[in-house]
Formats: sequence, structure tokens, C-alpha cells
Amino acid sequence: MGRLSLKLMLVFSLSITVSSSSSFLLHRHYHHKSHSFPLKSAKSTAKDLLSLLGTKDQASKINTQEAQQLKSCLKFLVPFTPNTSNVERIPRGRREAMEMGISSGKSDWVIENELVWWPPEAVMELARISVDSGGDPAAIQRALDPTALPVPDVEGSKEKRCELTRTPYGRRFVIEELNSYLAFLFELIAARGPSVGLNVSLDRYDLFHGHLFLATDSGRLGILFTNFGRFHAKEYPAYDKDVFPYNMGYCQIGSNLAYDDAMNLRNILWLAPLPNKSSKDWVAPGVLVVLDGHPEGIVYRELIPEYVDYVRTIYEDDFGDVAVDVNYLNVGETVANYSIFIC
Ligand SMILES: *[C@@H]1O[C@H](CO)[C@@H](O)[C@H](O)[C@H]1NC(C)=O
Ligand SMILES: *[C@@H]1O[C@H](CO)[C@@H](O)[C@H](O)[C@H]1NC(C)=O
Ligand SMILES: *[C@@H]1O[C@H](CO)[C@@H](O)[C@H](O)[C@H]1NC(C)=O
Ligand SMILES: *[C@@H]1O[C@H](CO)[C@@H](O)[C@H](O)[C@H]1NC(C)=O
Repeated sequence: MGRLSLKLMLVFSLSITVSSSSSFLLHRHYHHKSHSFPLKSAKSTAKDLLSLLGTKDQASKINTQEAQQLKSCLKFLVPFTPNTSNVERIPRGRREAMEMGISSGKSDWVIENELVWWPPEAVMELARISVDSGGDPAAIQRALDPTALPVPDVEGSKEKRCELTRTPYGRRFVIEELNSYLAFLFELIAARGPSVGLNVSLDRYDLFHGHLFLATDSGRLGILFTNFGRFHAKEYPAYDKDVFPYNMGYCQIGSNLAYDDAMNLRNILWLAPLPNKSSKDWVAPGVLVVLDGHPEGIVYRELIPEYVDYVRTIYEDDFGDVAVDVNYLNVGETVANYSIFIC
């Protein structure tokens, strides 16, 4: 998929909004003027969002009004628990939960939450490496097996000449636990999305892809799953001459995905736990949250419009440096068989 289709998505998302509310542009102008905090760049809003999802101390430094507006756009797929920063004890609890699983009497729901708050050891390790490297994408790339795996046909994509991935080859992490954790995140988003109004399908028209980044300044490891060239939910809505009159190229052919309000919920953010740089402790648990891009919210106002002209560049600058794209593709021919391809 090229830059053009990304841009079309952006343009389309703005034009839909305009046509659904003729006074919208005025509103938007008004909102900007009425901010009591200075209007900031997408990059600094993204940074504040990451702080809000960091330690209590980081969160407390954000302008209260902005923090409230950001919070109103957050739909957590896993409860947000900034206060579970009681370091060493938590990972142990998480290990016990995994090892004892069913016998611990914990429900799947609780175990899944714990896997997001305090992921398996290999993920914790990668999260720490990201921070220790000062947010250097090469630190992630070094964790990949150099073997280039050809991306196979995905749900008839080849026939339609649709190229889903940035490169025709993908790689995997050497440590298998990292690959399965990525698969777990995709599955969890699909499983829990409906609880916040986000119905996603794990197919090539919808949620199949995200961008793994190292956050600016903190080096915190994260993945942005969106429609805008990040974690891609609702990637290729079907052509519809009234509601979605955009031809997005080969990958759209065959889509039945309808355009609807759920399109506001395209941006899904995962953050790894945050390590303390100067000790072995962890200062914030992992996060999995949908960023609600409804037109009245700060996410739409401060983050999304900025992307219109500079899709990928601003994306990288906004949240951090993108290390790799993560694809979760159904490569099965008759039965579903999902596989991770890191490009
Ligand atoms: C975190 O805070 C919430 C609500 O403020 C509380 O219900 C929960 O028990 C706290 N968790 C810990 C581990 O302190
Ligand atoms: C999501 O899917 C469920 C069942 O498949 C349906 O009941 C619900 O209305 C859908 N929600 C949205 C927002 O589309
Ligand atoms: C990180 O560790 C240092 C040294 O143990 C400690 O002084 C500091 O308060 C910790 N930072 C956080 C945010 O917990
Ligand atoms: C699923 O795909 C992988 C290759 O990505 C293959 O090795 C495996 O045998 C497939 N499994 C099934 C059940 O088809």
C-alpha cells in the first residue's frame, strides 16, 4: 500500500467530518481559540499522551485541562493501573499467574490483563533494551532473526496485486516468545475491541498491521496500530459511491468493510512497561488503549489533522522512532493460519 492511499484515507476522514457537520470547521477554529493551554504540535500532544500513560509523576506534570481532554479520548482495552508500580513483586505475580494459570483460579480476563501490565520476560527485556539504548531502533532490529521470509499470499492478495507489507519479505524475532506476544496483542485487540465499540477482523482489509516505535525522549517501547500507517484497523473500507467514494487501489478490491462511526476508533496504542533507567525496577505497567478520534476530541484535533500532509514522517516524529512494521497475516489457504511478519 502506498503513500497515496494513506493520504486518501486522511483526506477522506476530514471530508466525511466536514460533510456530516457543516459548522464543523467553525467549531474547530473556535476550539483552538478557546484553549486555555497553548495550542501545541501533534508531537507534543503525543508526548503528553505518553506521559499520561506513564508514571503518576509524569502524568501529574501535564496541564489538567489537556489531561482531561486526553483521558476523554482513551478507551482502555485493559484497565489502566498506573498505581501498580510496586516493582519487583508484580512480575513475580504475573509469572505465577502464567505458570499456575487455571489452577490459580484466575479468569482468562485477569491473566490477559496481567500479560499486558507485566508481559513475559522476553518482552520486558526488549522494553528495557529500548530504554537503555536511548530509543535506538537498531536495538530492536538486532533482536530479529536475519532470515528473510517471503510474505505468502494473504487471502487472495496476490491475485489482486495487493502488497500489504512494506517489503515482500518479513522477519521474526529470534526469541519466539516475542513473536507470540505480538500475535497475542492482535488477538486481544480483536477480542476486546467490541467492548469499546471497535469491531475488528483480523484480515487484510482490517486489522493486520502496526508500527513498533521507541518513544521520543523516554525510549519506551510501543506499537501504534492504526489506519494511518500505524496499527491498521479499518484499513480498507469497501468502495461506496455515497459514504466512501474513494478508490484505494488493489488492496481494497473485495472489501466488504463498511464505513461507520467505528472508524473513529482506528488508532490502538500498546505501550510496554516502563523501566526505571537507574535501577532494575519498573515504574509503569504496560498499556493497551484505543485512541478515540471522534471529531470533537483532542486526538482528532491535535493529532490527526497534522498527519494530512506528512503521513509517515510526522508519525515517526510524533510518537518516536519507528523501528519496524509488525504484520499479523492470515497465510492459511483453507483454514486460518496466522503468522507474524516483521518488515
Ligand atoms: C489502584 O487504584 C485503583 C483505584 O484508584 C484501586 O482500585 C486499585 O486497587 C489500586 N491498585 C493497587 C495495586 O494499588
Ligand atoms: C459488534 O459486533 C457485535 C456482534 O458481532 C454486534 O452486536 C455489535 O453491534 C457490533 N458493534 C459495532 C459498534 O459495530
Ligand atoms: C528510579 O530508581 C532510582 C534509584 O533507585 C530512584 O531514586 C528513583 O526514584 C526511581 N524512579 C522512579 C520513577 O521510581
Ligand atoms: C501455518 O503456516 C506456517 C508457515 O507460516 C507453516 O509452517 C504451518 O505448517 C502452517 N500451519 C498450518 C496448520 O497450515
